[in-house]
Amino acid sequence: MNSRVFTVGSLIPGRLIVKPQTSEPTDNKKNKIEEIIVEQNGSKIEIHHVKGKLLDAALDQGKQINYKCRKGTCGQCTVKVIKGPGLSAPNELEQKKLKNALTAGYRLACQTEIL
Ligand code: FES
Repeated sequence: MNSRVFTVGSLIPGRLIVKPQTSEPTDNKKNKIEEIIVEQNGSKIEIHHVKGKLLDAALDQGKQINYKCRKGTCGQCTVKVIKGPGLSAPNELEQKKLKNALTAGYRLACQTEIL
């Protein structure tokens, strides 16, 4: 015997509630973006992938990075990128300041954008 009771309201189209069955993960593992790892003065610094300037992201996350001008002129914020997914291409200021060091992976944290 069927124990399910239908009422007039349950038969109205659109009122039937069907829970979608999904096999998608409930956490954010599938959307996880790799962390950025840079090195300055022999110290490795891990920075979470947050859009904006690399220097700002590091400072907001409590990471210690030397800097001074924030304008791309002093070079104090120079870091070597160990792992850098999603970073902008070097801008004119970085090309002018770092020259050949760019090809060795160095960047100005105040000029590098996390995309
Ligand atoms: S803080 Fe001076 S070049 Fe980045």
